[in-house]
Order: sequence, then C-alpha cells, then structure tokens
Amino acid sequence: MTTSTMEGGTTAFRKLDFDLSGRTAVVTGGGGAPGRGMGREISQIFAAAGANVVVVDINPEAAALTVNTIRDHGGEAISVSADVASSEDIERVAAVTNDAFGSVDVLVNHVGIGNNASLLDTSEEWWDRCQAVNLKAPFLTARQFLPGMLMKGKGVIINTVSICGLTGGRAGPAYTAAKHGLIGLTKNIAACYGDRGIRCVGIAPGGVRGEGPEWNSAEGRVMGTDEQPNLWPSLRRALDLNPRRGTPDEVAPAVLFLASDHASFINGAILPIDAGWTAV
Ligand SMILES: NC(=O)c1ccc[n+]([C@@H]2O[C@H](COP(=O)([O-])OP(=O)(O)OC[C@H]3O[C@@H](n4cnc5c(N)ncnc54)[C@H](O)[C@@H]3O)[C@@H](O)[C@H]2O)c1
Repeated sequence: MTTSTMEGGTTAFRKLDFDLSGRTAVVTGGGGAPGRGMGREISQIFAAAGANVVVVDINPEAAALTVNTIRDHGGEAISVSADVASSEDIERVAAVTNDAFGSVDVLVNHVGIGNNASLLDTSEEWWDRCQAVNLKAPFLTARQFLPGMLMKGKGVIINTVSICGLTGGRAGPAYTAAKHGLIGLTKNIAACYGDRGIRCVGIAPGGVRGEGPEWNSAEGRVMGTDEQPNLWPSLRRALDLNPRRGTPDEVAPAVLFLASDHASFINGAILPIDAGWTAV
C-alpha cells in the first residue's frame, strides 16, 4: 500500500530496516563489560546492523571486551586505545580507522566524565580535564572526521550530552558547563554543515546505568537520591514517573535510529532519554 506525500513521493506500508551495512562508525567510550555502559551497547547495536565499528576507549581491556563480543557474533570491529582529549591520539584513531575500513560515516562522541563536587570544591585541574574530555574531544573528533564526510556529502555525528546540559541542576559545575557547551557545538555543526549532507544531533541520557563508578552510587539506585537529596529536586518527581535506573539497551536503539537514514530530517536536535526526568 502506498500513499502520496506533499512532495509527490510515496510512503510505503513498510517495516523499517535499520541497516548500516557498508558504513563505518567510530564510537568513543565504546568499551565495557557485557550489559554495562551505553557506549558498549551502541557499538554492539551498530555492528548488529551491519556497520564496521571502531571502538575507541582509554581502557584497552574494556575496548577489547566490546570488540570480542561483536566478533563472537560475526560482526566487524576493531579497538583503538586512545584518550579522546588528545589530538595526537585522535589523529592515530583516524589513521587506524582509515587503514581498516576507509572513511567514517557515523561518529558517536560518547565519552564523558563528571562528578558532583560543588563549585567551591572544584579544582582548576578538574575543570580543565572536564572541559577537555567532555567538550574539546568532540571538537577534535569532528574536526578529524568531518572532511571525509563532506567529501562523501553525507555523515552523522551524535554527541552524548546529558540532562545536565538541558536543565542545569546541581551536578558538578565543570560537567554541567561542558555539557551545555556540547549542545552548542552540536547545534553549530548542524547549522554550518547541514546543507552539505551532515547531520549532528545529541542524546541526553538521565539516570541510566553506566560503567563508571561515579554514575553508580549503588546498583539500581539513581545517583543523587540518597547521598545528596538536594542535588536534583526534579529527580524526586522523576522517580514518581519511573522509579528505577535505565539500562544501556534502552538507549542504544535511539542512537541507531538517529544514525540511520530514517532520521534524515533530524538535525541539531537533542533527544532526552530520561524516562521523563526533564519533563517534570
Ligand atoms: N549514565 C547516565 O545516566 C548518564 C547521564 C547523563 C549523561 N551521561 C553521559 O553518558 C556518557 C557515559 O556513558 P556510560 O555510562 O555508558 O559510560 P561509562 O561511564 O560507562 O564510560 C564509557 C567509557 O568511556 C571510557 N573513557 C573515559 N574517559 C575516556 C577518555 N578520556 N578517552 C577515551 N575513553 C574514555 C571509559 O574507559 C569507559 O569504558 C558520558 O558522556 C556521560 O556524560 C550518562
């Protein structure tokens, strides 16, 4: 069954196919143990959709875990150990990627670090490192991989932001400021390169179980509820909606959609994945 669209094309009655065959995706922070970490889950779902996946992680063992799982299931992946805040490391990631798979079609800037230290407890060193990992790194990777995407006239950049980039709140100021900045970078890339086939979007997770201890106060509990009850007043209302942590496999399908051609009209948008936390 087909129906006419306003542009005169047709829409088929169809089951959507999220196929990334023949495409190469770089996922930073893609390492992790099974069932842990959104970056790992994103890497796996991309590989299952047919993409060649480059798992970039500062922890080589974590990256190898993801790559081994992908290969065990017949997927294509390589790991590159790198600090995303280092331009030399990012150049090396590009060289290794190019040797293995050629140019990049999808870039996911997933790495992020944060804490809940107040402004008065935030050192200059932590501020600088937080900006470098959360904000400079996506600039470095975008600068590295955009030229190849522009040559193809097509490419997708997906930045992992945070609900702290949307709402503020009382998490650490270095983290909150960096994630606000990353939303600005996302929109700037979308605005500057959208007319040349590039889409740049963000996901804003909230309350999702991750790999790092800073995001896991205790299994099954959402950071900030018990230890620091005033951290996010909205969290109390959010827990009324959904009183549990999200899991990485509740995030990765959205990233697959955003990376796919089915998201071709979505550019510069930030998608909250937070069970309604930012809605209350
Ligand atoms: N979990 C949540 O609820 C939540 C909420 C908001 C935002 N986020 C964002 O999600 C991302 C983290 O997601 P996660 O919980 O799946 O990740 P994670 O904390 O499990 O870490 C992912 C990987 O990043 C790697 N990594 C850390 N620093 C790195 C660096 N400098 N270079 C390369 N790799 C590095 C780690 O080794 C780890 O394997 C961050 O961007 C974070 O800000 C998470």
